[in-house]
Amino acid sequence: MPSLRRAISIGALAVLPILAAVLPALPAHADQPLRAHAEARGKFIGTALSTSPLANETAYRNIAATEFNQITPENAMKWDATEPNQNQFNWSGADAIVNFATQNNQQIHGHTLVWHSQTPAWVQNLGADAMRTAMRNHIAQVAGRYASNPTLVSWDVVNEVFDDNGNMRNSFWYQRLGDTYIADAFRAAKAADPDARLCINDYNVEGINAKSTAMYNLVRSLRAQNVPVDCVGFQGHLSTQYGFPSQVQQNVQRFADLGVQVRFTEIDIRMLTPRTAAKDTQQATYYRDIVNACLAVTQCAGITIWGFTDKYSWVPETFPSEGAALIYDENYAQKPSYTAVHNALAGGTNPPDPTDTTAPSRPGTPTASAITATGATLTWTASTDNRAVTGYTLYRGTTQLATSTTNTVTLTGLTPATAYTVNVVARDAAGNTSTASPTTTFTTPAGPTNPGTGCTPTYRTTNTWQGGFQGEVTIRCTSAATTWRTTLTYPTGVNVTQNWSSTLTTNGTAFTFANAPWNGTIPAGGTTTFGFIGSWNGTGTPPTPTLS
Ligand code: G3I
Repeated sequence: MPSLRRAISIGALAVLPILAAVLPALPAHADQPLRAHAEARGKFIGTALSTSPLANETAYRNIAATEFNQITPENAMKWDATEPNQNQFNWSGADAIVNFATQNNQQIHGHTLVWHSQTPAWVQNLGADAMRTAMRNHIAQVAGRYASNPTLVSWDVVNEVFDDNGNMRNSFWYQRLGDTYIADAFRAAKAADPDARLCINDYNVEGINAKSTAMYNLVRSLRAQNVPVDCVGFQGHLSTQYGFPSQVQQNVQRFADLGVQVRFTEIDIRMLTPRTAAKDTQQATYYRDIVNACLAVTQCAGITIWGFTDKYSWVPETFPSEGAALIYDENYAQKPSYTAVHNALAGGTNPPDPTDTTAPSRPGTPTASAITATGATLTWTASTDNRAVTGYTLYRGTTQLATSTTNTVTLTGLTPATAYTVNVVARDAAGNTSTASPTTTFTTPAGPTNPGTGCTPTYRTTNTWQGGFQGEVTIRCTSAATTWRTTLTYPTGVNVTQNWSSTLTTNGTAFTFANAPWNGTIPAGGTTTFGFIGSWNGTGTPPTPTLS
């Protein structure tokens, strides 16, 4: 379940998809950084960060801050970093990355609570009961530390539990505890941070193969037992010499169809060194195809690249004849793969296919919620498409009320006490549109009578000049109000040219100011104030309005 904390926590990331939903689709400008394009598509674009260059290199910090809206600590939240000795916790690296992400309005994906690697010997040497207790304690401490921090929104709870053939990895966890440690870890993480998205994460599971099928079966079985797994991470450590995995989009979609969020968590695409232009091009197509696979699956939250500069990549140490796996070179110059990621996020390498004549499926009946006198949220079951659904249009009859890139939209500016019968149409990149969904009707409640029960408006002129004036109204309520409205009626010759902290409806020289979405609530005994600029074609003192 998406949580209130998560919705709030992602800050601008949360706001942008809503804006994208309310406003007509606003593509990010072509030269914008990756994160602007990702946000416009409702996805994250992330990078893994390493603490040492983060502390020491301005170029590293600048690119990390500018280009990405999600951060995964590459090593700083792992067990050997956070609990090197039993019950002795070290938060220095983890906190440094959380602080950086907070300053730059980025989400943190915590990595990783339970893994067979980078786990100190003291854990590996414990007996079964003590190991289970240590695991639960570690999760409680590490996930618990950031549970109330809105920056940290998700965790890799268990990492790499499978062998490539689909058998459970014969790790010390498995040897000591059997596969029960997996469910146990998720339950402990849920207890420690109930609002975080909890992921299982692995490599070589991007395409359909024995390992990804084993993971699929495990996730399905865990969810059937109410184990709180709600996210699957596909690491995506690829190599141009082994080819692009088969059926990535279909694979990711089959997990999404289990009801979990999916994401690419550690993308890098290494090549046999040295780099050549041809290898760069091949690598770029792999990056592009991963991004496009995520864009094509509604439940894919985003893509994290495992670092961004070839200067700091784990690859050459582990695969000595391979490298150059990232989207910037060692000198922080953008590579063709940067352009590929950028253009895919911007839609540039995903042009509409003129041969695509398949329309998206019919969207579900919209459901109205959060209905107020002037607003409502509509949500519907998403359409599917042979390529990808690129957006929805919400209609009232033949009038377009809003567009959305997701299967929900928040309407504002509705008329009080009015029935709205609406339906929704899905579209794809080629312009194919679905059959309209069934309609739903909701009725906005009556708005407040002017100015709101128990509320009294007071007007004053705060400034005057030749041809104009500035006015201010304070609304004082003796009983609590959730919406308010007041009408200022002027003689002819007056017009309101600008207003703030209010919404304005003009009828001749009757100007009705209502609350903005954010200032409708006035507590008993409280006040709110809005203002406006008026023009006036007379001389002397501007006229005083009558208030109702
Ligand atoms: O911290 C020590 C330092 O004290 C020491 O001087 C230095 C000497 O080699 O080693 C440092 O530790 C290294 C650590 O990264 C931090 O830099 C380890 O040797 C090194 O093995 C370790 O590598 C990390 C690797 O995980 C460990 O398995 C990589 O940076 C990191 O990118 C990689 O990330 C993993 C994901 O967590 C899970 N999925 C696969 C991915 C790639 O292997």
